[in-house]
Amino acid sequence: MKTVCVNASKQYEVKIGTGLLDTVGQEAAALLRGRRAVVVSDTNVAPRYLQRVLDSLHTAGFSAQSVVINAGEASKNTDTFVKLVNAFADAGLTRADAAFALGGGVVGDATGFAAACYLRGIDYIQIPTSLLAMTDSSVGGKTAVDLPSGKNLCGAFHQPSLVLCDPDTLSTLPAHFFADGMAEVIKYGVIRDAALFKTLCTKDIQTVLEDVVARCVQLKRDVVQADEFDHGVRQLLNFGHTMGHAIEQSSNFTISHGHAVAIGMVLASKAAGQAEIAEEIRVCCERYGLNTACPYDTQTLLPGCLHDKKTSGTVIQVVEPQKMGHCVTRAIPTEQLADWIMRGVEK
Ligand SMILES: NC(=O)c1ccc[n+]([C@@H]2O[C@H](COP(=O)([O-])OP(=O)(O)OC[C@H]3O[C@@H](n4cnc5c(N)ncnc54)[C@H](O)[C@@H]3O)[C@@H](O)[C@H]2O)c1
Ligand SMILES: [Zn+2]
Repeated sequence: MKTVCVNASKQYEVKIGTGLLDTVGQEAAALLRGRRAVVVSDTNVAPRYLQRVLDSLHTAGFSAQSVVINAGEASKNTDTFVKLVNAFADAGLTRADAAFALGGGVVGDATGFAAACYLRGIDYIQIPTSLLAMTDSSVGGKTAVDLPSGKNLCGAFHQPSLVLCDPDTLSTLPAHFFADGMAEVIKYGVIRDAALFKTLCTKDIQTVLEDVVARCVQLKRDVVQADEFDHGVRQLLNFGHTMGHAIEQSSNFTISHGHAVAIGMVLASKAAGQAEIAEEIRVCCERYGLNTACPYDTQTLLPGCLHDKKTSGTVIQVVEPQKMGHCVTRAIPTEQLADWIMRGVEK
């Protein structure tokens, strides 16, 4: 087992290891004063893993209840938020107790936001079961639900009290979602760690999964500790995302986030004049079933890029690689954005 300590506005541990699912109760008992728990999961994850988590909590002396939401992004909405806070109230959770998020980023983000608001903030424990949630969304304290007008528009910064990643759960994650997570994993290599990138290009991922998850968590931890509230270096995590978001939107969300980010990383590298890095990323992405050919032209992508959260007034922050393992953010005037995209989509 590996442990990564996060030292943000709250200190907590991220543990990564096989079999951790069965230790949730004892880990939580060591951390919490209360013995009431609500475990939130979704319709894909609950049938596979919920009972093990509930058993572990009961054995450790918790009175534990569960809420199962429909799987998928469509559930990350205000109705779910209301359902969750009501479930916490019905279970009688106090500030000494905790909510548990067992699932991917959707369950984690919605549970985290409900925990941030219920009683003005209770503890929550992340038990991520998707690769994306293990390496990205469960660490760092960004929580949210979507509004009809956009993704993640209603949320809060609220750090978890503990994160338990059991890589064994990834054996049931559908290949498409595993690939989505791999795009973010590759992103960490490009922005911060050339050795990780090389591992991803050469090794059989299944044999190094625990190490790779732990390394990504460390990298995310470093960025979050340097910039918890997203004013500076945390924006590096946005590499490939400005174009990625525009690609997701242009496809009417038929191209999923990670697959769009993979295309976006190649485009952003080309736009930065780094054709060799773009090619290295393309080859690595294809190893994991991520096709990086961009189906859209500049005029199609431009509106989506302009609506990106990273736009502030007349400038937009873009993230560009300078060499493998090292990216920088650069502010460009919005009127130069079309040229930047054009350099990316050029054959
Ligand atoms: N908070 C953050 O910092 C942050 C960062 C990145 C992404 N996100 C959010 O994360 C969400 C995406 O996360 P995701 O890709 O995990 O999506 P998800 O939660 O929808 O999970 C993907 C799919 O895999 C299923 N699944 C998860 N684990 C499984 C397992 N072990 N076995 C079988 N099926 C399993 C889920 O039911 C779902 O169908 C988005 O809402 C995004 O906005 C948040
Ligand atoms: Zn992402």
